Amino acid sequence: MAAYPRTQALMARGSAFLGSDTAILCGAMSWVSERNLVSAISNAGGFGVIACGAMTPELLDAEITATTALTDKPFGVNLITMHPMLFDLLAVCARHKVGHVVLAGGIPPKGSIEALKEGGAKVICIPPTLALAKKYLRSGADALVIEGMEAGGHIGPVSTSVLAQEILPAIAADTLVFVAGGIGRGEAIAGYLEMGAAGVQLGTRFAAATESIAHPAFKKAFFRGNARDAVASVQVDPRLPVIPVRALKNKGTEEFTAKQVEVAKLLDAGTVDMGEAQLQIEHFWAGALRRAVIDGDVENGSLMAGQSVGMVTKEEPVAEIIGQLMAEAEAALARR
Ligand SMILES: Cc1cc2nc3c(=O)[nH]c(=O)nc-3n(C[C@H](O)[C@H](O)[C@H](O)COP(=O)(O)O)c2cc1C
Repeated sequence: MAAYPRTQALMARGSAFLGSDTAILCGAMSWVSERNLVSAISNAGGFGVIACGAMTPELLDAEITATTALTDKPFGVNLITMHPMLFDLLAVCARHKVGHVVLAGGIPPKGSIEALKEGGAKVICIPPTLALAKKYLRSGADALVIEGMEAGGHIGPVSTSVLAQEILPAIAADTLVFVAGGIGRGEAIAGYLEMGAAGVQLGTRFAAATESIAHPAFKKAFFRGNARDAVASVQVDPRLPVIPVRALKNKGTEEFTAKQVEVAKLLDAGTVDMGEAQLQIEHFWAGALRRAVIDGDVENGSLMAGQSVGMVTKEEPVAEIIGQLMAEAEAALARR
């Protein structure tokens, strides 16, 4: 990789922690972040992360083995904390000596961070607030990703720029913090590095890369999509909680709203109880991302994408994307 001395100097802590040339992580994306994209990212000097999602321990085992065959560079694994077999997945990571494990989707259950550290892994957590950031560090997290609501996929309520201002000045001098959500260009990376970030995490920018196995129709939707098309799902009824998901608007997003109204009516009529109603809401999206990414059903599937989707205009190899991001960051820092 070419030399980007100013950027690499600001990324030095993050790169040393990850073991990669740059401190640019490709955030795990369910169905997208599998062996091909993950190994391509790590081979190009970034840090790839396998999205375990709802995989069984056997499938994760096979995915790690296959990724190891495609790269000798470090990569990580992202586990969702509410996975019913979380501790079996932790054991799979330990068996493979995975160096970095990201715990996503809520507060890590008791014993999970300890189990990872006993297995020799570095643990990365995703705190939604400064208070939880401090709690995760006390529990043993080695690094943090702070992710704003501009991001694709499941999101919190606060923007990246506000999270960065709240969290970086408070803890980034002594803690490794990677900033995620809405990053599409290197100038933004330079800004967060100057604020004290150890590095950054991007998802949307890499989802439609040449090496991504996402269906051509899914990639095309990304090339066409603008920032304003990547909208957060809306909760219709206060009784039926919905964790917001940012995705490109399509027929599926409209039907999700209609489904909530329908289930709320069933609840009013006493036809279903609260448990069943909430289950029906949750099940609506189960498999929807797979339908879009793998089957190419861009009408009814979930086109999870961040607001940076407007900066994704064509299919490019990940090495070119990383090269552009680094060159833009370097030029911005040189102009200071
Ligand atoms: C299609 C898609 C799927 C995602 N799936 C996951 C996931 O399974 N686990 C997770 O922690 N984050 C997931 N994310 C979030 C990414 O890891 C990353 O943090 C996010 O994309 C960064 O914001 P950006 O999209 O604005 O670059 C997903 C994002 C996208 C776009």
